[in-house]
Formats: sequence, C-alpha cells, structure tokens
Amino acid sequence: QAATFRVVTIDGPAGAGKSTVARLLAERLGWRFLDTGAMYRVVTLAALRARVDLTDAEALDRLTADLRVSLPPGQVLLHDEDVSRAIRDAAVTEASRFAADCAAVRARLVAWQRAFAEAADTVTEGRDQGTIVFPDAFRKFFVTATEEERSRRRHAELRARGAAVELETVLADQRQRDARDVARAIAPMKPADDAELVDTTGLNIEQVVDLLFHKVGTRP
Ligand code: DC
Repeated sequence: QAATFRVVTIDGPAGAGKSTVARLLAERLGWRFLDTGAMYRVVTLAALRARVDLTDAEALDRLTADLRVSLPPGQVLLHDEDVSRAIRDAAVTEASRFAADCAAVRARLVAWQRAFAEAADTVTEGRDQGTIVFPDAFRKFFVTATEEERSRRRHAELRARGAAVELETVLADQRQRDARDVARAIAPMKPADDAELVDTTGLNIEQVVDLLFHKVGTRP
C-alpha cells in the first residue's frame, strides 16, 4: 500500500502574494513547496532562448519534453543552471501566457506536479491546482486581494528590484493578465467549488500565513 501525502492548494490571481505565502506556509508546516508558475516560466525562458515560435504548440511540446527542471528549496534549476532570477524577467512574464495556453505543455507540467506531490506533503501554488491538478486536495484556498492592492504590492516589489515602472502600467498589465487567466479555454483561473476564499487586502504576509496555518490545522 503506497503512502498518500497531503496537498494544500493555493490558487489565485497574480500579485495576491500567493507564492511568498505558500512558501512560508510550507516551511511552517514542514511540507514541500511547489511553485507551478515557475514551471510555466521555465518553459517560456527555454523557448525564448531557443527562439522557438511560441505559437507553435508542437514545438513547445517537444521543447518541454526535453527540459530537465528541478526545484530544490528556494531554487529553480534548468539543466543545473540556477534560473530563479531569469524566469522573473518582464519578457518571460509577458510571454508566459503562450506556455500557459498550450494544452500539451499543460499536460506535461500537470504530470510533473502530481509526481512532485507523490513524494511528500506539499503546499502547491498556481491557478488550477485545486480545480484540475489536485481535485482531492486536503485543503484548498483561493487567495485574492483587490486589484489596486495587488498592483501596489507588485509595483513596490519591482521598484525594490530597481525597475523604473509606473503604478498605472503595473495595474494595466495586471488587468490584462487576469483577464487572460480567467478567459483561458484550458484550465482557466477560478476557485474550486470546495475552495475557501481568502481576501488578503489589508493583511501583511505574516498575517496571511498565520491565517492559512490555522485553517489547515482545523478542518472546515
Ligand atoms: O504565477 P506566475 O506569475 O508565476 O505564473 C506564470 C504564468 O503561468 C502566468 O501566465 C500564469 C501561468 N500559470 C498557469 O497557467 N497555471 C498555473 N498553475 C500557474 C501559472
């Protein structure tokens, strides 16, 4: 009899603070953390580097099949190169929708995600984790914040990294990405029927982690 591990899914729009929250929650629980957005970003980075036509689903699929990606804590390795920073480039962020829209790429990444969670208790973060990838998850959260707050957070983060970008631009880009994530034909971003909605507007990271930690400890 194979051991079954628990999965906590955290889905929601960009800028809701999901990945930081999911990482810290995993640390506090002593579980593994899976950043599924990073996987779509690695595929995108590799495609941009190889000058693969992003609209060519077959080419993207072949490229994805050949990628060797590993996710040790705090790192994203592509063929042993640490690409944790490179995958956060604006160009990768912008182009990532092609990988996200590609059914063949999604199928491969979903298989990786499930395999990852077969080895240990896992907190996973993305758009489709509670709906498609882990429908039987132990707990499901859909984390949001108002779009103003999300773009303020994102703007502060970009400024802290030295990017000269206006708040209005961040907000406009975010609106466009939200709309695409929601309207995507395959695996659109939406809360699972049995997900708990968590509005993080006005809360700091620590408060959100506390909140989720206690929710995980107490069954609904
Ligand atoms: O969360 P993020 O910004 O790192 O996500 C990068 C891209 O991948 C973005 O276009 C949304 C997409 N994505 C997805 O389609 N499904 C997921 N489970 C995670 C991310």
